[in-house]
This record gives sequence, C-alpha cells and structure tokens, in this order.
Amino acid sequence: MCYGLRGWAIEAFGTSIVKVSPHSTLTWNIECLRRILSSTMDGALIIAGILSVFVFLVLVAIKRNQYWSDQGVRQWKPLLFVGDVLPVILRRQTFGQLIMEICRALPNEPVIGFYFFMKPILIMNDIELVQRVFVKDFPHFTNRRRQPDVERDPQQFMHMTLFNTNGKLWRAIRSKFQPMFTNGKLKLMFPQVLDISDYFIELLKKESQNTNKIDMTEYFGKFTMEVLGATAFGLNGRAMDENSEFRENGKKLIEPSLANFMRYMVAPSLVQTLGIPPMPGIMRSYFGRIVKNALKTRRESNVKRHDFLQHMVTLQEKGFIEVEKEDANEEMSETERGPEMKVEMSDELMIGQASGFILAGFDTTALTMAWMCYDLASNPEIQTKIREEAREVLSKHGNRMDYDTTKEMKYLIKCLKESSRLHVILDAFFRMVSKPYNVPGTSAVLRTGDYVYIPVLDIHMNPKFYPDPEKFDPERWTEDDRPACTHLPFGAGPRVCIGTSDSRYTILL
Ligand code: HEM
Repeated sequence: MCYGLRGWAIEAFGTSIVKVSPHSTLTWNIECLRRILSSTMDGALIIAGILSVFVFLVLVAIKRNQYWSDQGVRQWKPLLFVGDVLPVILRRQTFGQLIMEICRALPNEPVIGFYFFMKPILIMNDIELVQRVFVKDFPHFTNRRRQPDVERDPQQFMHMTLFNTNGKLWRAIRSKFQPMFTNGKLKLMFPQVLDISDYFIELLKKESQNTNKIDMTEYFGKFTMEVLGATAFGLNGRAMDENSEFRENGKKLIEPSLANFMRYMVAPSLVQTLGIPPMPGIMRSYFGRIVKNALKTRRESNVKRHDFLQHMVTLQEKGFIEVEKEDANEEMSETERGPEMKVEMSDELMIGQASGFILAGFDTTALTMAWMCYDLASNPEIQTKIREEAREVLSKHGNRMDYDTTKEMKYLIKCLKESSRLHVILDAFFRMVSKPYNVPGTSAVLRTGDYVYIPVLDIHMNPKFYPDPEKFDPERWTEDDRPACTHLPFGAGPRVCIGTSDSRYTILL
C-alpha cells in the first residue's frame, strides 16, 4: 500500500514526497497521507490562484473592450486580449486594409473605436477630423509614440530619430535639420545623385544582358541606399557592390523580426519597459561606427562637401540646441513642458538622425520606384507619353538633366502622384495625443497618451475623392480641387516627411 501511495504521489506531483521507514509502517502511512493532502491543498490553492488571475484578466479585458462604447462611440468587433488585430496577426490583411474595411462598414461614423490588442485607438473616419489632427489641431497631436528617455541616458540619443522624437525636442531638432532639405541644398547634391543614376543604368544594362528577369525592388533598394549613403554619410560606391555590407545592414534595420515588429508596430513603450533598445542593435554597432568615423574624417580633413554630413559638422561646431520653454505649447501643463534644455550636438544625436534618414528613406523610396515601374509597364501608352515629354524637356536644356529639368516634367510628376496614391507605402499611420482633446462633433474624449489612426489607404481609395479609384489615371491630377489631406503618401502638417522633396527628385531622376 505504502509503495502504492508513494507511486501515486510520484505520479501526481512528479516527485517522491515520502521517506521509507521499514520500522513504522502505520506512522509512515499517516505521514504519507498528510503530506499528500497538504500538497493537494497547495495544488488546489495554486489552481484557484491561477483561475482568479485569469478571471480578473478576462474582466479587465471585457471592460477594456467597452472603452469606446462607454463613451458613446461606435466600435468594431474586439476579441478578448487581441482586440481587432487578428486579421493582421494572421497576415490576412495589412493594417491599412483592415482599417479601410472598418471605415467602409461604418461610413457614417466620423470616428470609430478600434482596439490594438488591449489598447483603445480612435480611427478618424472623416476628412475634416483628419485635417484637424494633421494641421488645425496639431498641438494636440504633436507626437507619434513614446520617445527614448534621453534625460536619464544621453546614449539614447543614438536611438532617437526625428521619427520618434516628441514635443519641444522634436521641434528643436527638426528646425535644425530642415535646412538640409531645402531646394537650394538638394540642388547642390544633384550632380552626385546624377552620377549614381548613370552608374545604376549601366549596372541594369549589364544585368539585362544576363537575364530577362530583374527584381527591380532589389535594384532600386541598392540605388536608394547608394544615394542616401552618399548624401547622408559622404560614402561612395558602397551599396551597389555585390554583397555590400552597407546595404545588408540597412536591410537589417527594417527586417521583419519579432523585435522590429514590437518596436515599430506593437508596443514601443513595452519595448522600452523591457529594456530592449528602441532601435535595432545594428544602429549602434554598424551605422554608429560609420557616422562617427565619417564625422571625424570630415572634421580632420577640413574638406567641405554638399551633403548632410557637412550640415551635421556645421551644427556640431555651433555646439548646442537650446530647447526653450517657449518651444512648448502654451496650453501644455508644466510637467509636459518640462525644464528648459540644452541639447548637445553630440555624435550620438547625429548617429540617430543619420541612421533615421536611412531607416525612413531607403525602403520607402525603393518601393515607390518599383511600384511606379510596375504601373508604367502595365500602361505602355502612358510610358510612351512620358518618353515624349522627357525628350521634349531635355531638348530644351541641351539634353542635360538637372534639378529644375525634373520639375518641368509635369506629366511624369502626375504619374508619380497617381502611383503613390494607388500603392501607398505607409497605409495607415497614427498620432499620439499630446494633450486632452474633445473630438468635435462626437462624444469621444481623448486623453494624453491615447492614439488615433489616420486611414490613409481608405482615403486614397475613396471614390468620393477619386472616382474609379482602382484605375491608374495620371490625368486625374490635371485639376486638383480635392480637400486638403486626401493625398498622403508623405503624411501632412508639421510632421510631414522631411525627405519629401529629396525622395521625389531621386525617383523622378
Ligand atoms: C518615397 C519615399 C518616402 C515616403 C513614401 C515617405 C513617407 C513618410 C511618411 C508617410 C512619414 C510620416 C508622415 C506623417 O506622420 O505625417 C514620413 C516621415 C519621415 N520621413 Fe519619409 N518617406 C520617404 C522618404 C524619405 C527620405 C528619403 C527621408 C530622409 C532622407 C525621409 C525621412 C523621414 C523622416 C525623418 C520622417 C519623420 C519626420 C518628423 O516626424 O518630423 N523620408 N515619411
């Protein structure tokens, strides 16, 4: 019996809980039973504990899923814990497609409640509200996400791109980097980009002799990395080489890994709480080293060039950015305004910005070019018109291509606008609420730290703004009397893509 009990005990709890004593079988059996009962009680307590936590979490999740309906806002169909994002997790839809489906299902709702896992997010399903978020009520929507904590750890500046900087610090950094992207500055970089494009055409010609199938996304990726490498870091001939380290590491910044999914999509805040760096390690280990070396060489050589690196060296010579109280919005609370700050133009800050330009610029530009190629290949008559226009414009300029020539190619520009409407690269983007906001015309109230979604794909494919929206029709841009914020490939308002002109002329070239 005893051995039987012991065997049971071992089976049930995976361990021997009794000691065999051949001299006192009865005492041993009572002890045996007592321990088993007490273990059973412990087990029951543990199970009860787990069940209570589970029930508690379910109740919290149920309550969470009523967040919008409690405010009198129509909401989609959230599931417990995953909210509305299951089709995205299962890779059945992109965010943009999911949000478009929701907006189409509830066309008369100016705002729609959505749940990103357990995080309530408000979809702006009305173009006037979209305009408010981007422009009119921008002070309420200055941020995209939580920013790295640079006041605690200045090393975090390396992870701080313009994209993930907030409030007055964003404003200060943007104002310092904006002049790099003026037409005048871009014009000066043009000859360099022209050389790269000549080399690129030679490379394509060579490749087309070996095969009749070329992966243009890959090739445009090489091209845009080369352009960004040259214009941001002063590097030449690194990205178009076979197995280029520069290009491979650029790809790693955006590769579809779990960590990147968490960083860029799911929970930047959680990522920080868990101590995962807000940007991939390659930023520090590779791009950090490159930018540091490039800055050092440029400072030492005293050579001045027309690129972003030069602009950064000049900024460093000036020393600091003053982030004044006045940069904060007047209606912000004292805590939100924070103290006045002096931000050093450190190598870390430069690394963050330069890597951010690579991160934000290379894949977006390459994909836009690849889609444009696809649209032109699918519409040979449009291709012929573009060719005719190019010949005509070039003949007026002695067959020389320069910055202003691209601007004269009006039909080509219409084609680019149409292609980036039809195949928008970021198909839904969000803003983090920077101060409380009562959404006009609705009962929705947004608190600081809440998020709103802008349904970019839905706007671009909306027959109200674009009749026959699936059609590639550059002529629809001949007259453009659409409301503001209906064409958003580069976003809108003060946080619009800083590289808009830069990438536009790279693509047109
Ligand atoms: C076709 C190419 C590109 C596309 C489609 C694109 C698209 C975008 C979009 C949609 C945003 C968000 C705008 C918003 O939230 O309102 C953005 C922001 C940004 N982009 Fe681009 N981008 C492109 C090229 C570039 C390039 C070449 C650079 C840099 C050289 C760049 C740097 C940035 C930066 C720094 C931001 C953040 C701006 C801020 O928050 O102040 N982008 N881009």
